[in-house]
Amino acid sequence: MTAILQVKDLHAHFSTKEGTVKAVNGVSLTLEEDSVLGLVGESGSGKTMTALSIMQLLPFPGKIIQGDIVYDGRNLIGMDVRSLRKLRGNEISLIFQDAGSALNPVVAIGQQVEEVMLEHTPVTKRQARNRAVELLAQMGIPDAVKMLDRYPFQLSGGMAQRVLMAIGIALRPRVLIADEPTSNLDVTLQAEMLQRLRQLRQESHTAILLITHDLGIIAQMAQYVAVMYGGSIVEHADTITLYKRPQHPYTWALFQALPRVDSPDQSLHPLPETPPTMLDPPDECPFLHRCNKATNECRTGPRPPLVEVEPGHFLACYNPIAQVR
Ligand SMILES: Nc1ncnc2c1ncn2[C@@H]1O[C@H](COP(=O)(O)OP(=O)(O)O)[C@@H](O)[C@H]1O
Ligand SMILES: [Mg+2]
Repeated sequence: MTAILQVKDLHAHFSTKEGTVKAVNGVSLTLEEDSVLGLVGESGSGKTMTALSIMQLLPFPGKIIQGDIVYDGRNLIGMDVRSLRKLRGNEISLIFQDAGSALNPVVAIGQQVEEVMLEHTPVTKRQARNRAVELLAQMGIPDAVKMLDRYPFQLSGGMAQRVLMAIGIALRPRVLIADEPTSNLDVTLQAEMLQRLRQLRQESHTAILLITHDLGIIAQMAQYVAVMYGGSIVEHADTITLYKRPQHPYTWALFQALPRVDSPDQSLHPLPETPPTMLDPPDECPFLHRCNKATNECRTGPRPPLVEVEPGHFLACYNPIAQVR
């Protein structure tokens, strides 16, 4: 196995009047070549900020404080802006979570899809236009030619999401980060989109970091899973291991809420009590206050580091669960 993208101890902070929001607080994850890594975790756990950090597109005043992002042997941290621009959209591409605000409101859809091709590949305007129509049609957009002249405000959320997906996969990137790409879509369309992602992998061997709330999607799509909580990865393993033998109490709780693999409702159920604060968080296990397995070591120790507990299985916990599900 070769890693195409490795994130190592990444920290990204937002300085605010109230204090420092540690949105990404020591994230480490590995995306293997030609595979899908699912990134799961409840809302506000830092998934989107991790994705934006990898792309170096954090919104102001977000800042990467520490860490490495190694893509194909090259560290994106400290890379010059020109080289970064060359990679972005071409080799590493992001499907933004918020389709509405990711599209430029004053530029027609066709031009936005064509732009990425014109910027990175030696195609003519006409070729780019034809390919844009083809891509939009593949995304299940009914009248793709007409769509070219529309503006973002004329699209429904689901339609905008499909356009973003078309832009994200236009250049058949080596790494695709898809941030909840199907959350605005109905079940049928969701299945179609997932099929498109599978196809992209088959045809272009694109490695995908798939951010989702939906454990059913993970089971269908991902070979590996990273579980995020309070700004860090608390468990990271291959999907089968994680479903059968989750060791972090948070992962366990997530999968407990999933009584059967064929259950129709496979979304993440929020745990009781409030999620951890990201504003000046104390140096302790982020799950401490919701954990029913916490020991003295957990209460007094620093935030547990992510360590390899068996080959390929990483865990950040002082008192892991030993049971098999
Ligand atoms: N501009 C900002 N200023 C301060 N905090 C922010 C800003 N943007 C996001 N955050 C915080 O970053 C944390 C992680 O958010 P996010 O990555 O969007 O979570 P997720 O994608 O897992 O739902 C949240 O606590 C959020 O409040
Ligand atoms: Mg998000």
